[in-house]
Amino acid sequence: MQFASGRSPWDFSQRLRLYERVRAKSGWRPDRDIDWDAPLALSPERLELASQLACTGSYTEEIGLLTCGRLLSSLDDLPARYMMGLQIADETKHSEVFTRLAHRMSGAAPPPPPDNVNRICDDLEGIRDPISLFLVHTLLEGFAHDQFKFIAPTFEGDPLGAAYQFVIRDEARHVAMGIDYLRFALHRNVSDEVLETIEWCEANVRAIGFISPVLMDWLAGISGQPSSDIAELFEARHQARLDRIWKRGRYHEEA
Ligand SMILES: [Fe+2]
Ligand SMILES: [Fe+2]
Repeated sequence: MQFASGRSPWDFSQRLRLYERVRAKSGWRPDRDIDWDAPLALSPERLELASQLACTGSYTEEIGLLTCGRLLSSLDDLPARYMMGLQIADETKHSEVFTRLAHRMSGAAPPPPPDNVNRICDDLEGIRDPISLFLVHTLLEGFAHDQFKFIAPTFEGDPLGAAYQFVIRDEARHVAMGIDYLRFALHRNVSDEVLETIEWCEANVRAIGFISPVLMDWLAGISGQPSSDIAELFEARHQARLDRIWKRGRYHEEA
């Protein structure tokens, strides 16, 4: 399947401008912009949760890094590879900042990744088609963004809370760039194969990302918000992203 054939010079320059704006906004640094000397003012229960989140975050962000690396080498479109390069730079910082936090809390490297993380990794490795991987990656980043939004307020004033704020903003930009690009690319080359790809991703992405009632209950426990409200918001935001990518048959190229 050819990816995003028929790019116009106008589109090329617009896309590069978008990436420049994104780059200008992601200039934070884990070493400089987190107050590593701030005391950990967390209850023992919250400290344990923070440690668990930091350890998991170091691995899940590494999955994002590795997935972008695969996409960078497999997408047959230069601007898409630039976008992946931008995301790789950010995902490196995300993994690093969580690893630093985990190290600070435990004094050691994070323990081996939990089974859930290994399964996400295996599921993503099993996706060989670049468009499917790009779509699943972008939708998973949307889910990650939404999870972080519910978790972050609990750690406000703590280095973990500060890290989440930087990561949330980066993920929002990654999702926006991914949606923008997928909308362009998928509508360039509509075929049964593309439609089947979208259908497969829609049917499987929740299971790949562990988006389930168990996750909603866990987020409710952390955030204090009803799990039904959280589930509703997750689904509404997910559908809005799909609508923006696919436009449900009503898409017209702005150019
Ligand atoms: Fe990330
Ligand atoms: Fe990301």
